[in-house]
Order: sequence, then structure tokens, then C-alpha cells
Amino acid sequence: MLRLFVALPLPAVVRERLSMIQTGVPKARWLDQANLHLTLRYVGEVEDHIGHEVAAALDRVDAPGFDLRLTGVGYFGSDRKPTVLWAGVERCEPLHLLKEKVDSAVRQAGIPRDGGKFRPHVTLARLPVSTPVGRVGRWLENNGLFRSPPLSMTEFTLFSSHLGSERAIHTPLRDYRLETADLL
Ligand code: 2AM
Repeated sequence: MLRLFVALPLPAVVRERLSMIQTGVPKARWLDQANLHLTLRYVGEVEDHIGHEVAAALDRVDAPGFDLRLTGVGYFGSDRKPTVLWAGVERCEPLHLLKEKVDSAVRQAGIPRDGGKFRPHVTLARLPVSTPVGRVGRWLENNGLFRSPPLSMTEFTLFSSHLGSERAIHTPLRDYRLETADLL
């Protein structure tokens, strides 16, 4: 079995900048800098042969490359029980187009739709229930102005994820180029 997801990898410089705001919330389980990414589609656990079909279907995605800017921070869960801290993404039409094409490819490999609304984000931390919510509020205030320069997205990646005893290990299985305009 393989546990798969499709994501945009982020340049090292921005992962480094994100790692600088991964602090200040006791109990938060901050993701390793190397693992920071923007998930396009969580595929889940599949048999190996289905995994190969997903990989092959993604080869047929043709979508243009684009610039993407990270902006602001937020959380999933409720005010009282936040579960995830993330960095946000500035509105970006080509990102949504890519997401649709990736979804469609994954569907062609026989995986049903996941149904949920796409809320682009970069997960920075997962929060256990014991996390002090006051500190989460302060972290949100302190980092609300986070903004990256425009990041050039030139490829997306199929990852496998192994749940280790402490944290997940993400392994890139295949990279897929996005189209670039030919400069004459
Ligand atoms: P997220 O952290 O970007 O929100 C690898 O585990 C990636 O797949 C994670 O980055 C996570 O997305 C996403 N993921 C993991 N489990 C998931 C689930 N049950 N439903 C949706 N997405 C999931």
C-alpha cells in the first residue's frame, strides 16, 4: 500500500522564512522545514498498482506555471479548539486551474472525488488539545502580516507519506513540469 498526496513543493528560501514563524505556541507540533508544501490533493492509501495509475494520469496534466504569493496566517478547527496553523495563499486563478486538473487526473485513476472545498494553505503546525488557545491567538496576531515574495511554481510533485512513530516522512516519487511560455 502507498499513502499518496499531490503537492506544490516550496523553494528553500520561503521554507526558511516560514520556519522563522514556527515558534511561540507551546505544545504545537511544527512541521519540519523540509516538509513544508502546499497540498493540491490528498489521495490517501491505495494499492501499489493504483498508485502507478495515479502517477501515469498526472503525466497527462497540462497546466501553465504561475507565480504564487503566500500571505497571512490562519487556523483550522474552532476558536476554542484550533487543530492546525497555516500560512495562507493570495488569490491565484492558475492554482485553482491546476487543482482542477490534478483532481480530474486522480479521478481518471479511479479515485473518487474528495468533495471538500479547496482551501489553499501551507500547514505549519498541528495542535494537540492541550495547546493553550491564548498563545494561538497571540501567534495569529504576531504573524498576520507574513507575506512572501512571488514564488515561481514550475512543477508539482507526487509524494508518498509514511507515518513514522514521531512524525510523517514525505518522499517525492515523481515531479511533473508545468508549462512555461517559450521566450523567443
Ligand atoms: P495539509 O497538511 O496540507 O492540510 C500529507 O499528509 C498531506 O496530505 C498533508 O499535508 C495534509 O494536508 C494532507 N492530508 C493528510 N491526511 C489528510 C486527510 N485525511 N484528508 C485530507 N488531507 C489530508
